[in-house]
Amino acid sequence: MDIPNEKAHRFGGDWTSAKLKVLAAYLESYTTALKDKPSASRPFVKGYIDAFAGTGYRETRPGKCLDLSLFPDLADTEPQGLLDGSARLALKTEPRFDKYVFIEQDSSRCAALRGLKDEFQDLAPDMVIQQGEANQEIREICRKNWSGRRAVLFLDPYGMQVE
Ligand SMILES: C[S@@+](CC[C@H](N)C(=O)[O-])C[C@H]1O[C@@H](n2cnc3c(N)ncnc32)[C@H](O)[C@@H]1O
Repeated sequence: MDIPNEKAHRFGGDWTSAKLKVLAAYLESYTTALKDKPSASRPFVKGYIDAFAGTGYRETRPGKCLDLSLFPDLADTEPQGLLDGSARLALKTEPRFDKYVFIEQDSSRCAALRGLKDEFQDLAPDMVIQQGEANQEIREICRKNWSGRRAVLFLDPYGMQVE
């Protein structure tokens, strides 16, 4: 498969697939559980905040093998190529979130994230792509008034970047 440079983002291994499957299941459970909460007439504004958002895609590596025998439902094989990263999984979640905040410090990855607005046009008005440093951006977000709002904050750094 010919992978466009701006989207290709190679990271992780089989554990990344397992992690993202858990994320997708969690997001669906979250928006389902909070549907019409606390009341149908005034539900929470539900947000997804991805503080290390990447490009929206991830590129798989061939030949990696991790023993997932304890989690057989996570161990199916995947074809090589571009798979959904956390941002695209969030955008595909049903019931949908009301707001999506993607934080990423790399400018070319932010450009790829902005490209998701073309693909998810109905969600585009509710997508914010914030180029910046995750720790600073999170502190800023935490200062907002959260009564009436709830969010999933997904932290997926390469290493120990979370302060
Ligand atoms: C492991 S990747 C995230 C992958 C993404 N969650 C996915 O599933 O597609 C980590 C990302 O965090 C970004 N990053 C690293 N340090 C950062 C920081 N301090 N603030 C914001 N983004 C950062 C990197 O550029 C990279 O795109």
